[in-house]
Amino acid sequence: MTISCISNQNIVYYPFSQYHFRILNSFKGNLKGTMMVSSLPPYSSAFFRAVLLALSVLWLLPEMAFAKHAAITRHYKFDIKMQNVTRLCQTKNIVTINGQFPGPRIIAREGDRLVVKVVNHVQYNVSLHWHGVRQLRSGWADGPAYVTQCPIQTGQSYVYNFTVTGQRGTLFWHAHISWLRVTVYGPIVILPKRHASYPFPQPFREVPIIFGEWWKADTETIISQALQTGGAPNISDAYTINGLPGPSYNCSAKDIFKLKVKPGKTYLLRLINAALNDELFFSIANHTLTVVEADAIYVKPFKTQIALISPGQTTNVLLRAKSKVPSTTFAMSARPYATGPAAFDNTTTTGILEYEKSSSASNSTIKKLPLLKAALPKFNDSTFAMKFNKKIRSLASAKFPANVPKKVDRRFFFTVGLGTLPCPQNQACQGPNNTKLAASVNNVSFVQPNIALLQAHFFNKAKGVFTSDFPANPLIKFNYTGTPPRNIMVKNDTKVVVLPFNTSVELVMQDTSIIGAESHPLHLHGFNFFMVGQGIGNFNPNNDPAKFNLVDPAERNTVGVPSGGWVAIRFLADNPGVWFMHCHLEVHTSWGLKMAWVVNDGKGRKQKLPPPPSDLPKC
Ligand code: C2O
Ligand code: CU
Repeated sequence: MTISCISNQNIVYYPFSQYHFRILNSFKGNLKGTMMVSSLPPYSSAFFRAVLLALSVLWLLPEMAFAKHAAITRHYKFDIKMQNVTRLCQTKNIVTINGQFPGPRIIAREGDRLVVKVVNHVQYNVSLHWHGVRQLRSGWADGPAYVTQCPIQTGQSYVYNFTVTGQRGTLFWHAHISWLRVTVYGPIVILPKRHASYPFPQPFREVPIIFGEWWKADTETIISQALQTGGAPNISDAYTINGLPGPSYNCSAKDIFKLKVKPGKTYLLRLINAALNDELFFSIANHTLTVVEADAIYVKPFKTQIALISPGQTTNVLLRAKSKVPSTTFAMSARPYATGPAAFDNTTTTGILEYEKSSSASNSTIKKLPLLKAALPKFNDSTFAMKFNKKIRSLASAKFPANVPKKVDRRFFFTVGLGTLPCPQNQACQGPNNTKLAASVNNVSFVQPNIALLQAHFFNKAKGVFTSDFPANPLIKFNYTGTPPRNIMVKNDTKVVVLPFNTSVELVMQDTSIIGAESHPLHLHGFNFFMVGQGIGNFNPNNDPAKFNLVDPAERNTVGVPSGGWVAIRFLADNPGVWFMHCHLEVHTSWGLKMAWVVNDGKGRKQKLPPPPSDLPKC
């Protein structure tokens, strides 16, 4: 049962001015009620406290009355607006939600409905995506521009309305058009149902750690110029932790994320990679992490000094603070795992882990403690990457089963990688041999249509928008990870795969060495899939399937196709709609490494996609 807990009179205007640990730390307080985020100026703290107190009383009533069926509707208001933000001694006008960078947190419990009213006040067209949310029969709320919706135009609004079903953990939301997600992103925290506990010790505090990427220059200009010239876009100037680059960069001494911990306590760090183009290694000096969750699915806990997290992935880790206050502080650092042929931002972002002295000592003179460095692998350590990804296993317990499809209805083999497009006449291009850089799936470089695929599909107007003949296998076979073929031109097209409802799919994704082998974090909208196998070199259909893990494979929404290797996934197409699949390295998506699956309605009443909401944006 769903109760709508909020009316216009009891909206909390939460004064999120800074993305600060103090606020992050107050999870427990926030969770009791629905949070409303707004762009209104902060209230005085006394007034705010009074409002909170009144609200907590208001909140307790419905919560007690409906304790048995706790699912509620949580309302958020997202105003897309410009905001001046200074990083690395340079002020920049960026697109934000409610003026915040990173954007506001969304908090829900499993089973809750989220209603997010988005109003666009900026000059750009914008759409928002709730990355990893399954969107069961709510494909109209998924968000990728020109796939499930036309973007929200300047001055227009759209209400994203969806329920979080069967997921708990960390996900994130981000803009899903062009490169706007560089600054438009924030965490989605999904708590277990009321009275349900974690399958690991209850942490003392929970802290989102969201990695980002920062450019001093305007990123919309960077990508549009790169697409014009055919060259690679400029690399970023810094990585960030919760929006802050940290002390390893010039002019960034004040912009450091600090995590204060109490000795002996356990903290749940909700790691999110919201960087645009880089997979990241993450480590905390002299501390061990226990991975407990990935992409909002519990995993078999394992200990590690270093985590690897690709753009689009989320990983929850437990951090146990040392039992005594040490006389040093500890670096929490992230830097890229990079395998491709292109230049990359080879810098390190650092936050600081500090121990709190007991309260009596806290006011004594603060000594400056030394900072212990974190050890991270070499930038191209693919052996580590392979090993780390293998360790991620589903719990596969009675309570949290791994429902791996055992039979397969349809098999697909997709090559993913780079390529080129011809240079337009009377132009010089900056790709190899005067071409334009491109990327493709099975040599099809996806061209964004000018109305949303889902609309075209739902209203039977596919003609002239997309065709349903996306190749199930490469049209030309070659040694994918050997010497590339002479002709590396891709084809521009808007093609989809159409699947009947409840088709069980096996998909092998094979990296190619065209222009250069590279790890590609592939993300599928609308589903979780099981990562049943991976390997180096070319996939061998005769030997490799026998080695698939159908017992406890990782269940995720984003998986790294190993550099010069392959990955095999399985999913059940039980969600009607149009579902985007793309590389989560934004530069590759821009170059066309994307495609879409159309899943038709089933026969049953609960197997059909409802019609679009009346405020669905128009193109
Ligand atoms: Cu995180 Cu299609 O996106
Ligand atoms: Cu890629």
